[in-house]
Formats: sequence, structure tokens, C-alpha cells
Amino acid sequence: MTPLAVALVLAAALAAQPTTPPDLRDKGPNHVDVSEYPAEQQEHYVLFVDKCSKCHTVARPINSRFNAQEWKVYLKRMLRRPDCNTSVEQARQIYSFLKFYSERQGQ
Ligand code: HEC
Repeated sequence: MTPLAVALVLAAALAAQPTTPPDLRDKGPNHVDVSEYPAEQQEHYVLFVDKCSKCHTVARPINSRFNAQEWKVYLKRMLRRPDCNTSVEQARQIYSFLKFYSERQGQ
């Protein structure tokens, strides 16, 4: 192949890449068994599933295995997204759930 042909093949291969690569976490469990969680955390869980499944699967955060501190940082990042539609109070409740969940997992 001429160098030009090589460059064209490479350019075509790069253009074919999907813009968001598949994330392995999306293939993990997409729910948490909260039946033994305190009632308050069960309510927070419902809110979490609702708010955090809009742009990616809810499996993504569920399988992320972040600790409470990492969640604090990460939630702020998610909340800055323009279509997040989550109030500060809702974010506090979601954080409370994620903290509880990660501590139960021993993170
Ligand atoms: C407005 C769209 C949107 C909403 C709503 C949203 N996310 Fe995301 N999230 C993204 C995008 C886009 C990515 C991939 C890019 C990135 O990591 O910033 C992502 C990635 C993630 C990741 C993987 C991060 C990493 O770096 O490994 C986690 C965890 C996550 N989101 C958690 C959440 C949680 C928890 C919520 C609910 C509060 C939420 N997301 C709501 C758009 C969103």
C-alpha cells in the first residue's frame, strides 16, 4: 500500500469508532436489592434510579464501586450536566443512598 492508501485506511478506521465507547459496567446488574435497607434509603433509591438512568444505564453507577468520597466528587460532575434536572435536595438524597450503598459493599 502507498503511504496515502495507509493514511486513508487509518482515517476510515478512526471515523468508524463510535463516539461513546461501550462501558462494561452497563452489562452488570441493573438493580440493587434494597429490601433490607432502611425505609428512607429505599425512597432515595427510587429517586436515584429515576435521575441516574437518563443518559446511561443505571447499571453504570451501580457497578462503579466508588467510595463515599468519590461519589461526592462524581455527583457534582453529573449535576453540572445541563440536562441533569436534579435539585440540590434531590442530589443530597441520592448521595445519601450512594454513600450507604458503597459502605455496605465495603468500599
Ligand atoms: C445529563 C446526562 C447524565 C445524567 C442525568 C447522569 N449522567 Fe452519569 N454520565 C453521563 C455521561 C455522558 C457519562 C460518561 C462521561 C463521563 O464519565 O463524564 C457519565 C458517566 C457516569 C459514570 C461513570 C464515571 C467514571 O468516570 O467512571 C457514573 C458512575 C455516573 N455517570 C453516575 C451518575 C449518577 C449517580 C447520576 C445521577 C445523579 C448520573 N450519572 C446522571 C451523563 C449523565
